Amino acid sequence: MSKVQIETNWISSAGSFIREFEAKFAEAVGTRYGIACANGTVAMHLALATLGLEPGDEVILPTFTMIATINAVTYCGATPVLVDSEPEYWQMDINQVADKITPRTRAILPVHIYGHPVDMDPLMALAERHGIAVIEDAAEAHGARYKGRPCGSLGHAAGFSFYGNKIITTGEGGMITTNDRELARLAWNLRDHAFSTERHFWHKFVGFNYRMTNLQAAVGLAQVEQLATFVEARRRNAREYTARLQGIPGITTPPEAPWATNVYWMYGILVDREAYGMGRDELRKVLADHGIETRTFFIPMHCQPIYWQRFKGQRYPVAERLCRDGFYLPSASSLSLQEIEYITDVIREACPNL
Ligand SMILES: Cc1ncc(COP(=O)(O)O)c(C=O)c1O
Repeated sequence: MSKVQIETNWISSAGSFIREFEAKFAEAVGTRYGIACANGTVAMHLALATLGLEPGDEVILPTFTMIATINAVTYCGATPVLVDSEPEYWQMDINQVADKITPRTRAILPVHIYGHPVDMDPLMALAERHGIAVIEDAAEAHGARYKGRPCGSLGHAAGFSFYGNKIITTGEGGMITTNDRELARLAWNLRDHAFSTERHFWHKFVGFNYRMTNLQAAVGLAQVEQLATFVEARRRNAREYTARLQGIPGITTPPEAPWATNVYWMYGILVDREAYGMGRDELRKVLADHGIETRTFFIPMHCQPIYWQRFKGQRYPVAERLCRDGFYLPSASSLSLQEIEYITDVIREACPNL
C-alpha cells in the first residue's frame, strides 16, 4: 500500500483510500455510510455535533466508561447525565436511563464496554418513544454483535476508535457509522472545516479539522480484511481464559449475555477480596512480579476530579464495585495459549484460599 500511496503522492486526507476504507468499514458494520476521522473521541464529538446540541441540552451516558465519552458531551456545551451499570453484564442500566429522561434529553450514549454489547432493543424502543437520538460509543466493539446485528449499526449513529490498542487499528483514527444520509453529509462537512459547496473558503458552520489521512486509511483497509480473524482469536482466548479460571474462589470472569457476541476487547475479571483471599491490587502486584502487565478497570465519571463537583452526592454502586475490584489481563489477539496458561497458573497459585 505505502509504495502506491507514496508514488502517487496521495498521503494527505484527499486520497482514494479514505473513501475505500469508509465503504469497507461501513460494509463490515452493516451501515450505509462511514465517515473516517482522526480518532474515536472526535468521532463521538462529530456525531453529537450533527445533532446541533445547545447548552442546557442533556445527554445520558454510563458513569462506567472511558473519559472520552463524557468529554465529547462537554465539548458540545451540553449537560452530561449519568446512569449506573447493571451488575450482570457490566453495561449501561436501561431502567435507570428511563428514570433520567427529561424534556431536555437530546441524546443517549450507550457504550459497549470492553467489547460486550449493551441491551439495545429496549433502549431503542425507549429512545423512539421520546424522540431521542442514540449514538453508540463502539470504540471498543469492532465485530461485536447484538442478536446477530453488528454493534455500530444499532443506534442512529456510532463512533469507533482505531487507536493502537483497539481490535483493528490505524495507529490513531476513528469512524462514524450511520444509515442516516443527512447525518453523514453533515459529519463529512463538519469534519473538514465545514467548507461550503457554493464557494470555497465560505463557512456557514463552525467546523473542525477532524480528518483522517490517506496513509492511515490504507492501513485501515488492510485491517478490516482481518477483522473476523482478530475477533475469532479474541473469542478463543477468552474461552481459554474462562475455562482455566474456573473454580478459583472469588474470581468473576467476564460475562456474555445470551443475545451477545462479546469480542473481549479487554478480558476483564473481578476479584472478591474475601473469597479470593487478597484484593485486586495485591493480585496485580503478584502478576507484575511474574512479568505480567495488567490494567485496572475504568474509574467512573462521577469520581473524576474534573467532574466530581458536578455529580457531587451521586452514587453508582455497580460502577464503583467494578472500579474497585476489576482489572484486565493481557488481551491482544496475538496472545498464545501458552501465555494464557502461564497467566492463569499464576492467578491460581497465588490464591491463598485454594
Ligand atoms: C469507550 C471509549 N470511547 C472513546 C474512546 C476514544 O477513542 P480514541 O482514543 O481513539 O480517541 C475510547 C478509547 O480508548 C474508549 O474506550
